Amino acid sequence: MTTKKTLKIHEIVKYPDPVLKRICAPITVFDDALRTLVAEMFESMYVAQGIGLAAPQIAIPQRLTVIDVSFKKNPKDKLVLINPEVIERRGSQVEEEGCLSLPEIREKIKRDAWVKVRAQNAYGEWFEVEGEELLARAMLHEIDHLNGVLFIDLISRLKRELVLRKIKKMQKNGEW
Ligand code: NI
Repeated sequence: MTTKKTLKIHEIVKYPDPVLKRICAPITVFDDALRTLVAEMFESMYVAQGIGLAAPQIAIPQRLTVIDVSFKKNPKDKLVLINPEVIERRGSQVEEEGCLSLPEIREKIKRDAWVKVRAQNAYGEWFEVEGEELLARAMLHEIDHLNGVLFIDLISRLKRELVLRKIKKMQKNGEW
């Protein structure tokens, strides 16, 4: 008989929680506790219907993100990026983007069309991953989170004011 450990589902922090503005600290310890956290982050992301989640979004200001652009359809798409850096970038793409910390907000964001990222896995081993289109976008969005940057920081001031007004209205109505 086997027992499956129940993973903790973390609550996702919403804008304007200050943890989302933090420059996150590098991860230096690659132990079982970290690997459990990674598993919990995937589960928390799936429960929230997301394809990417960064540790500051669960109030942990450390350089860790999980991504699954296929949303459970292809196990090979499960990606753990620890201490990630973009080392090459090419082209540009403009697509609508959302964020679990900014529910119901969607804006067109210009991103690199292709990126190569260097990161560590949950065992501390360095690897490189290349991605285009949605994967490039997801990696760039999540790496931004580790530097305290949200996608609404990348839109025009006018559009941002409209978004902030919408958020205020939702907060007032108890919908945020
Ligand atoms: Ni996000």
